[in-house]
Amino acid sequence: MKYKFDETIDRSQTNAFKWKARLLDNDGKKIYPMWVADMEFDAAPAIRKRLEERVKEGVYGYELLSDEYYAAVKHWLKKKHNCNLETDQILYCANMMCGLSMILQTYTEENDEVLMNVPAYGNFYNVIKGCKRVVVESRLKEIDQRFTFDLADMEQRVTEKTRAFLLCNPHNPTGTVWTSEELEQICLFCQKHHLFIISDEAHFDFVFYGQHTMMKKIADKYQIPTVTIISPGKSFNVAGIQTAALLVEGIKTKNELFNTMHAMAYPFEHAFAEAVTIGAYMESEEWFEEAYNYIKSNKDMVVKYLKENIPVLRVPYSEATYLLWVDCNGMKMDEEEIMLFWENECGIMPSAGSEFGDSGKKFIRLNLACPTKTIESALEKMKKGFDRFF
Ligand SMILES: Cc1ncc(COP(=O)(O)O)c(C=O)c1O
Repeated sequence: MKYKFDETIDRSQTNAFKWKARLLDNDGKKIYPMWVADMEFDAAPAIRKRLEERVKEGVYGYELLSDEYYAAVKHWLKKKHNCNLETDQILYCANMMCGLSMILQTYTEENDEVLMNVPAYGNFYNVIKGCKRVVVESRLKEIDQRFTFDLADMEQRVTEKTRAFLLCNPHNPTGTVWTSEELEQICLFCQKHHLFIISDEAHFDFVFYGQHTMMKKIADKYQIPTVTIISPGKSFNVAGIQTAALLVEGIKTKNELFNTMHAMAYPFEHAFAEAVTIGAYMESEEWFEEAYNYIKSNKDMVVKYLKENIPVLRVPYSEATYLLWVDCNGMKMDEEEIMLFWENECGIMPSAGSEFGDSGKKFIRLNLACPTKTIESALEKMKKGFDRFF
């Protein structure tokens, strides 16, 4: 292995949100954070080198991205996702959720409804509600342990006021990779109800099983307006450096969204965005491939271990993301008791299922992007904790 994914990095004394934002020391008992979706790995050397060079320039004034930035985004999309774009179809935005907010502010009105499948990434709720739009939830259903959307339920939920469908592709937290047939069905549904599509593809590089299809490709066939949100944040562990992109239909859509950016007095790019994006998409594929295989092996190991050793937990089929959605209903506890159990009896802090809406209650989500030895020790602690009580 060329890169040091096995190395433990001590972030406990840093400003890392994952480490800082909750009480981590409970009566001297260390609790390992496995919640927020970033990795316990250093960024790729090429990204760090690009950043160091940018820092050395010494001036960090207002920026305009160069052609190289757009070439890098196009390169990654073509190489990894077989998606060909023109430069005028790419609009930089600071982060993905800021992009979602811009889309909602541009293409919907106050009190308009946005339909999404739940459980869902918590900030989807925050942004939609923060923009004074209304969340319409349609619960995913499980078929043979795999989460999928429930078209009949979606038909019941959609109303005259529903304007957009927000897709998480692949799906956080369940890890479902939507098949092209499923995406076609969503398109037919959106076409029937005149909804435009927002496709969040934050986790599209970490697809371990199944085949990821960018929604844009299918939606284009049906001529459904679609804005895709991407970022190197998850794939390269650079979410703290603000760089994401909206993939739009063309210059008209780009200008409409840009007008909303202007209203937010937000026309300039982060001074480090270009260095990070080029370092990632053009120069760090090898790092990514190694991280991908490392995490896949972590995830396979955890799924197998939990199934064999802690049967009170149920692990539905998860095809993508470095996260694992675990059903804790078998523990016969309420949500708060479940979280306290994980923290006090196992010394681990997962994400609480309720962060993903009410339908996530009594599940937890584990972040597996950390050194394998950390995972092994976490599994041991889990087994001890569960063996004492179940
Ligand atoms: C599905 C999804 N979208 C977006 C984000 C966050 O992206 P950003 O920090 O760029 O807003 C996350 C982070 O966990 C996520 O899981």
